[in-house]
Amino acid sequence: MNTRQAEPQETAAVAQLFTATFTASEGASEGKQIGDLAHRLMSTPDEPAICFGTWQDQQLTAAVIFTELRVAHPLQVMLLSPLAVAPNWQRQGNGQALVKHSMDILQEQGVSHLVTYGDPAFYSKLGFTPIREHQLKAPQPLSYPRGWIARPLSEHGFDELKGTASCASALDDPQYW
Ligand SMILES: CC(C)(COP(=O)(O)OP(=O)(O)OC[C@H]1O[C@@H](n2cnc3c(N)ncnc32)[C@H](O)[C@@H]1OP(=O)(O)O)[C@@H](O)C(=O)NCCC(=O)NCCS
Repeated sequence: MNTRQAEPQETAAVAQLFTATFTASEGASEGKQIGDLAHRLMSTPDEPAICFGTWQDQQLTAAVIFTELRVAHPLQVMLLSPLAVAPNWQRQGNGQALVKHSMDILQEQGVSHLVTYGDPAFYSKLGFTPIREHQLKAPQPLSYPRGWIARPLSEHGFDELKGTASCASALDDPQYW
């Protein structure tokens, strides 16, 4: 098993993993939508994305993409979205291991907080807890407010996250929220 940052030339493989994983869990239409999103996030030089992946025998089995979440003060906050573990590799600790690896590296790079919009049952295992929207407003109206969650890195606290967040343009679309 090899977990590392994905290279730009691996964008197509990353997009394919998202397409296949979300097709299996949510159907072909959502699979294509998330695959296209991953491709766009990794191909917008003005809004750089960081993608970490796990390879098993040179096959990409899990990937997660981080982009900047702009907030109204000088914290370095990143939005984790999307995350996928290939169907045959799910429920074996791979998703948690990949996010933990990513958190260690991003913390070393000075990132103060991670924010995501996902299933708290999974992300609570990684230390994510709910954000109140009057504290940090999401980029778009939330259809599932309980999914708006964050995890401070290093010594940072939750109270520092304030204001209105804005995200990469590819994610700034009501369909994802
Ligand atoms: C959600 C996902 C990323 C989790 O990765 P994973 O490698 O399967 O998860 P892990 O093995 O690290 O952790 C699993 C634990 O998290 C918890 N969990 C809660 N909700 C979960 C969910 N929807 N899927 C998987 N685990 C979930 C469970 O406690 C589970 O433990 P259990 O199997 O003993 O019940 C992966 O299953 C996946 O890609 N699913 C399809 C795409 C998706 O829904 N992505 C959502 C993120 S954008």
